[in-house]
Amino acid sequence: MTAADMYTQNDIENFPFPFPKDQYRYSANVEPTGTQRVVIDDHYRRELDERARILAADPSRSQCLPHMIPAAWDAMLTLMHDLADGYPQHMTLERITAEPAAYRWRNALLDIDQTFTFGAGDTLPADPLDYICGQMQEDVVLLDQRDDQMWGDAGVVTFAADWSFGFDVGMSFLQIHGPVPRLHSEKIATRAHEFIKRLEPAQSYRRTNWTLTVDGKLDTSTETYPQWGRDRRTLSGGPLEDVGDRLFLRTEVQHLIRLPQSNAVMFLIRTYLLPFWAIATLPEWADRLYRVLEDLPLDMADYKGITRTRGQGMRWLSTYGPVTP
Ligand code: HEM
Repeated sequence: MTAADMYTQNDIENFPFPFPKDQYRYSANVEPTGTQRVVIDDHYRRELDERARILAADPSRSQCLPHMIPAAWDAMLTLMHDLADGYPQHMTLERITAEPAAYRWRNALLDIDQTFTFGAGDTLPADPLDYICGQMQEDVVLLDQRDDQMWGDAGVVTFAADWSFGFDVGMSFLQIHGPVPRLHSEKIATRAHEFIKRLEPAQSYRRTNWTLTVDGKLDTSTETYPQWGRDRRTLSGGPLEDVGDRLFLRTEVQHLIRLPQSNAVMFLIRTYLLPFWAIATLPEWADRLYRVLEDLPLDMADYKGITRTRGQGMRWLSTYGPVTP
């Protein structure tokens, strides 16, 4: 079975197609969001297994600077509330005692029934952020706010698209975005930064980002470049007919949430993948993707790492898919 065979009509229906227009440019594209910020889909177990495998091989994907421990608890509890609200048939969070703040957390999907005291590390089998990230598909970064800046000081990131959380941890928001072309000259980074600093408790916003990924790999972080970098070459040099199964549009749905107790900002990154064959079943999507790829300026394509693959993707969409160039 190839990675492409694991995607079904359900995935097409739930895919957050990221292009409202035929042209894509960077912007501070945020919109207010409802309470359903964490989503469980058909890939739940497979993606959690993949996260566990990656963390076991490379523990640097999980980081929590010491001053972020309260924020990690805050994040865990917020995420448990989100999960229990969104999936009450599978998950529940019950307050057992007011003082100390003890809870019972149940996740029937993973056969978990855990009692813990908020803030007491010895009542959980793992650190709070690792614990909850073992039960949801989203990657998480926690940002501390101090000296009028946001700092990426904690997180669990196993599915990074061409960056390294282990390298970025402890950096400011503006430093983290240093490598992105256009973001600074067009003042998008400072605008986004101001926006995040002003987020109020319980407010949440979402944005999307996108790229192309070969063979459905979730872990395309800097650390594993030797494993996934070559896939791009075998795709661009390989048979065109394989591209529908091998090339994926990758959308990240990102949420920004001000945490209520610690005042940290939680950044959720959820990665959705969809193979080109599935996109080709919807002519409007196929056509729009083609136009966006065709139009994308070289510096952006280069930064996204798609200079080798976008041409093959476009050829496949117009040869085997429904697109008329
Ligand atoms: C409104 C908020 C934000 C905006 C507008 C924004 C914008 C962007 C854009 C346009 C890119 C380039 C993506 C691409 O071409 O594929 C990017 C990359 C990135 N963003 Fe953000 N971002 C935001 C929030 C955040 C937050 C809160 C974090 C977490 C610390 C973050 C971490 C990153 C990282 C790690 C990269 C990759 C940088 C690299 O290549 O090393 N972003 N961002």
